[in-house]
Amino acid sequence: MSTNLSQNERVVSGMRPTGRLHLGHYHGVIKNWVDMQLNYECFFFVADWHALTTHYEDPSQTPDHVEDMVIDWLAAGISPSSATIFLQSAVPEHAELHLLLSMMTPLGWLERVPTYKDQQAKLREKDLATYGFLGYPLLQAADILMYKADFVPVGEDQVSHIELTREVARRFNYIYGREPDFEQRAEEAIAKMGKKNAKAYRNYRKAYQEQGDAEALDVAQALLESQQNISVGDKERLFGYLEGISKIILPEPQARLTPASKMPGLDGQKMSKSYGNTIALREEPAEVEQKLRTMPTDPARVRLTDPGDPAKCPVWQLHEVYSDESTKDWVVQGCKSAGIGCLDCKQPVIEAVINELKPMRDRAQEFEQDRQLVREIIANGSEAARDVARETLDDVVEAMRFAR
Ligand code: TRP
Ligand code: SF4
Repeated sequence: MSTNLSQNERVVSGMRPTGRLHLGHYHGVIKNWVDMQLNYECFFFVADWHALTTHYEDPSQTPDHVEDMVIDWLAAGISPSSATIFLQSAVPEHAELHLLLSMMTPLGWLERVPTYKDQQAKLREKDLATYGFLGYPLLQAADILMYKADFVPVGEDQVSHIELTREVARRFNYIYGREPDFEQRAEEAIAKMGKKNAKAYRNYRKAYQEQGDAEALDVAQALLESQQNISVGDKERLFGYLEGISKIILPEPQARLTPASKMPGLDGQKMSKSYGNTIALREEPAEVEQKLRTMPTDPARVRLTDPGDPAKCPVWQLHEVYSDESTKDWVVQGCKSAGIGCLDCKQPVIEAVINELKPMRDRAQEFEQDRQLVREIIANGSEAARDVARETLDDVVEAMRFAR
């Protein structure tokens, strides 16, 4: 796909409000968001309704939790001038779209999403045989389709939700995008593009439909995207006509798989709040140092003179994230020959983590001192998101042909 168009491409992603974030979130998700905001039109939101599907009895979902997480986003470099930052529940249109989509979503599709049974089994102590929990991925579909997203950066565990989203979009377009005079209207729309573009469109369409030429499809879509003279409705028709079906009202998004985070926790397991092995983004330097100095190493190194093996040491995994080749050579050499002590070995990691966190701590501090500003950023982002959401809902309601 041609990259020069990426400015027009949309990215949507959400995160449940967990309060303060840690380095696992940063290396796993947020760093990726920070990169994406420069190349795409990004919508990043706090999925507070999704949190309710599993934590409906838990009163800890306070506004503080939401603000704290957003402060960490901002501290990590998500910028309200590059991305729309918003709160799901402040855009109630998501609930309306969820409801409308629920009317045409077969129950079996939701029951078959792997996370449904998996999470129920994992969180056995909770009663998750709820209507809301079954609908979790459909609410997510509404979040995504609402912004007509091209890409959704998610982890492996969420891929099935994007697959469902695509199926729901396809079904919606199939049911509500069929017009009795579709073909004639599409032909009229082609004519409105002018002779040259109309001819190009027809050729690309033919190449795609007769030879399955995917590149022709890409080029034709780009051509449509750039048309100024035709209405949104006509564009939807022509996108649909390209693929030969019906109007495309809700485009299918693609998952952008976030590489599994290599960020290990203090015990070598994946960094996660539930394992108690985290370093928070706002952790103080002294605390970072203390945590790293006391983290376990290769158990074979009881005394300084005992050689060790980096492959058996969680500290080594941190070197893999933070250290350059020469430092890593120094570690391997020194560890295997008992030439360095574990505290020496940890020192470069301690410095790297503290340096990485320093600018984030500084920025977070500014926002902590001005929480009103944080609330404004969320409120403004939510207003901007609502404008886009209303447009999509208007299209959806129009297609379903009932007035609001
Ligand atoms: N389900 C996602 C998670 O647990 C959070 C989420 C909600 C989301 N809505 C979304 C992610 C829309 C991407 C797009 O991580
Ligand atoms: Fe781990 Fe480094 Fe100690 Fe070797 S020297 S056991 S890699 S901390």
